[in-house]
Amino acid sequence: MLRVEHLTAGYYGSTVLDEVSLSSGEGITLVIGPNGAGKSTLVRSIVGSLRPVYGEVRFEDRPIQTLPAEAIADLGIATVPERARLFGDLRVIDNVRIGSRLAKRRGEKVDFDADLREVCDLFPDLQAKLNDPARSLSGGQQQMVSIARALVAHPKFLVMDEPTTGLHPVLVKELIVKIEHVARDLPILLTEQNVLQTVPIASHVHLIEAGRVVLSGTPGEILANDRVRRVYLGERGETAPAAPTEAG
Ligand SMILES: Nc1ncnc2c1ncn2[C@@H]1O[C@H](COP(=O)(O)OP(=O)(O)OP(=O)(O)O)[C@@H](O)[C@H]1O
Ligand SMILES: [Mg+2]
Repeated sequence: MLRVEHLTAGYYGSTVLDEVSLSSGEGITLVIGPNGAGKSTLVRSIVGSLRPVYGEVRFEDRPIQTLPAEAIADLGIATVPERARLFGDLRVIDNVRIGSRLAKRRGEKVDFDADLREVCDLFPDLQAKLNDPARSLSGGQQQMVSIARALVAHPKFLVMDEPTTGLHPVLVKELIVKIEHVARDLPILLTEQNVLQTVPIASHVHLIEAGRVVLSGTPGEILANDRVRRVYLGERGETAPAAPTEAG
């Protein structure tokens, strides 16, 4: 459904993503990688907030990398950006409604009340907060609003950039279950650093390091990979350095 081919992108003439190719279809396509690997740069290049210097992003077989962000949203690609970007002074309900406007602009018949009920079923915490200004919510609750806003846009494809960042471990667990639930009906490209918890819910996984895809595979292949186990899961391999001895 979405293909990224030889995507090269960066900032002010410096290259961050170097010929990244991957595709994303049914279920969850997971992109993992350390801080600064280029995950958000990839997301920005897909959703049109950064113009790549080379390569293609194809959605439903059509190149979209030169389209402005609004036109990409109009094709049905919704985003949950890194750190929920809400309008802090607007009420929660009005932030969610922005997603609904996108669906309407695409000519979809929208029943906002029904959509709102659905996202409140998914995130029950939001129900009591609907009339509060978004800035008064906790980071995790704002993240839920950001996801709700994306879902009421009735997207065909959802791009989420590290949605679990900064959340309490219990909330992380709950959110991952919810993302898995949403992915039953909606293909998702998800970036995460939370390898242990997100790899098992993915259909396919790509590891990005320093702007390059260095490993791709099924969850089983990724979790069995020596390097992933050592570097990302903190397991000690046979090559792990011996415990330091006291200097004399
Ligand atoms: N707006 C920007 N201007 C200049 N350089 C940037 C900008 N955004 C990111 N970079 C640089 O691009 C590289 C990749 O950053 P990116 O935000 O894509 O990484 P990331 O994988 O999303 O990291 P994190 O897990 O910390 O969110 C980093 O070296 C970063 O300094
Ligand atoms: Mg990032």
